[in-house]
Amino acid sequence: MSDEEIRVWKRLMHSDSPPFGNYRDLGLSNTRKMFSGALRGKFAVPGYNFYNLEQLRAIMAGCAGTDSPVILQVLERNLNDASVRSITHMVKGIIVSRNDSVRAVVALHLDHGTSFESCKRCVDVGFSSVMIDGSQLPLDENIELTRTVVDYAHKYDVCVEGELGAISGATEVATREEMYTRPSQVDEFVKATKVDSLAISIGTAHGPSKSRLKDAPVQLRLDILDEVRARVGDFPLVLHGASGVPKQYVEILKRYGGQMEGASGVGDDQLKAAVKKGICKANFDTDIKLIFTATERECLAENPKEFDPRKHLEIAEARVSEYVRNKNRVLGSQDMGRYCH
Ligand code: 13P
Repeated sequence: MSDEEIRVWKRLMHSDSPPFGNYRDLGLSNTRKMFSGALRGKFAVPGYNFYNLEQLRAIMAGCAGTDSPVILQVLERNLNDASVRSITHMVKGIIVSRNDSVRAVVALHLDHGTSFESCKRCVDVGFSSVMIDGSQLPLDENIELTRTVVDYAHKYDVCVEGELGAISGATEVATREEMYTRPSQVDEFVKATKVDSLAISIGTAHGPSKSRLKDAPVQLRLDILDEVRARVGDFPLVLHGASGVPKQYVEILKRYGGQMEGASGVGDDQLKAAVKKGICKANFDTDIKLIFTATERECLAENPKEFDPRKHLEIAEARVSEYVRNKNRVLGSQDMGRYCH
């Protein structure tokens, strides 16, 4: 976009807006009030990742339709200059076209930003929250990077999530001692960076294989959560890798030609215990992808003559929506949107 176009955009927007749009103009909220509502009401706000329009609609139906606040999340690697702006327009379109009796409380969040530039790009187009993940860096560099993002984002009242401790990907599993968040570093990190929320590592992993022991459920290190909480009090803490990896969908996926070995997720009882101890945001990505893809595989295999994509997309959308409603009940977030304005 040329300098002239940027000037026009700025004139059209509030003077305190980032270059290409303000999250409030998109009908979004930042996460500050959501988290104070969550801490007061002892629930967790769901952070759901989405990859297409149907998943976005399903998440919104499962949340806005039951007055749950929601954080819509997009991974950094899914964003390029063009898609970042189509996403804000798509989200705005869904928000304004819904007809809920209570105004939906919705944040749009960058998940696992790894650089100042990608966080800035999202702030600049109207995301209301960004994550800067400097957890792979030495502590002082993580603090410096996070602080730089916070300084920029806070100018526009956009919230920032940081991370301390490593939450591993699908190939490694987070049970090694050094991956857990060290509670002794948390207060320094929070004070020095001024982040709005913090992802901590207490035994989850991203992806469908979260447990090191075959067929053993994930055991969260709730003792670390207690220790962190004792140091930071009522500060918003985030649980990544919270997917339950539902068995029935793993079976459907496999029955219709998919492959997923060593599937293990976070059980609802563990999730409830973490929320009770003060986790106020939980992230779900794997479950959305698994349910959607398993359903598509099933529908396509069972109906080989059907080539109209609406048929199987509609079923996949309905199943994701049902999952979201159930997961919100586990988090206690349904009917809580009204406390987050
Ligand atoms: P899952 O892989 O458990 O869905 O975790 C997603 C996540 O934490 C995204 O940041």
